[in-house]
Amino acid sequence: MTTPRNDSRVREFTGKRVLVTGGSRGIGAAIVRQFLGSGAEVLTAARSRTSTVPEGAAFVEADVRTRVGVKAVAEAAQEALGGVDVLVNNAGGARPFKNAWAIPDEEWQDQLDLNYLASVRLDALLTPGMRERRSGAVVHVSTAAVPTSAPAFLHYTAAKAALQNYSRGLALELAPFGVRVNAVSPGRTATPGGEATRKQQTSLDEGTGQDDTAPPLGRDGRPDDIADAVLFLASDRASWLTGRNLTVDGGEFPVG
Ligand SMILES: NC(=O)c1ccc[n+]([C@@H]2O[C@H](COP(=O)([O-])OP(=O)(O)OC[C@H]3O[C@@H](n4cnc5c(N)ncnc54)[C@H](OP(=O)(O)O)[C@@H]3O)[C@@H](O)[C@H]2O)c1
Repeated sequence: MTTPRNDSRVREFTGKRVLVTGGSRGIGAAIVRQFLGSGAEVLTAARSRTSTVPEGAAFVEADVRTRVGVKAVAEAAQEALGGVDVLVNNAGGARPFKNAWAIPDEEWQDQLDLNYLASVRLDALLTPGMRERRSGAVVHVSTAAVPTSAPAFLHYTAAKAALQNYSRGLALELAPFGVRVNAVSPGRTATPGGEATRKQQTSLDEGTGQDDTAPPLGRDGRPDDIADAVLFLASDRASWLTGRNLTVDGGEFPVG
């Protein structure tokens, strides 16, 4: 665990109400911890409460793949925080398939619901409040694999590509209201979900074309590497940044 590295930034989110989806482990938990360490009030959501939900965060159990789940998260945010100043749509993930034609239709739908529509739906419920207050920040967690796409994960990268495109468009619509919208695209990051996915991938037959060498900077990402980027984009330090996608990947994908 890391707390914000520069003392002058330690309390920069004091008074801010932050919602992070998927904060029970991995990248989301690091984002939650960093916001708590920066003085924010934080609510997080996941399908089940675990011992790895950071202490000090409020928690709501919900499945963001469904409209009912998203509504429950928005209602919990109203109840626990009284509104949301910073929304981080982080919940996501995928299981790999040998090739595109092996991906069942329901899996495509599941990926669209989790990695794209969950954000669209939650933003639709929570950005009206930001518009009214004429301030707010939204961060979408995508993937660095979007520009190249990824064999075995076409359903996932396609859904995240849609998320990035939507994120840019939403940023333009919300800019006149003082609400900023950006994306962070992680490369290979050491998290429970990431490790499990990569294990499933190596157990698939050969020929998916995945490259298992370390990123150019010599190591996989740490959840705090990604959280640092999220907090920067959500902070006033990024007050002239909107509609952007910040790739954080140790040089793994030299595009985008
Ligand atoms: N790790 C990587 O290498 C990597 C690379 C690129 C992009 N990303 C992106 O980074 C984000 C975080 O990934 P991670 O590696 O930290 O994943 P992780 O370790 O699997 O954690 C995912 C979090 O999201 C929650 N979640 C998953 N499905 C959910 C659902 N349907 N409803 C509500 N919550 C749900 C999980 O809790 P429950 O399971 O209890 O619901 C957990 O808290 C994802 O959007 C992922 O696509 C990760």
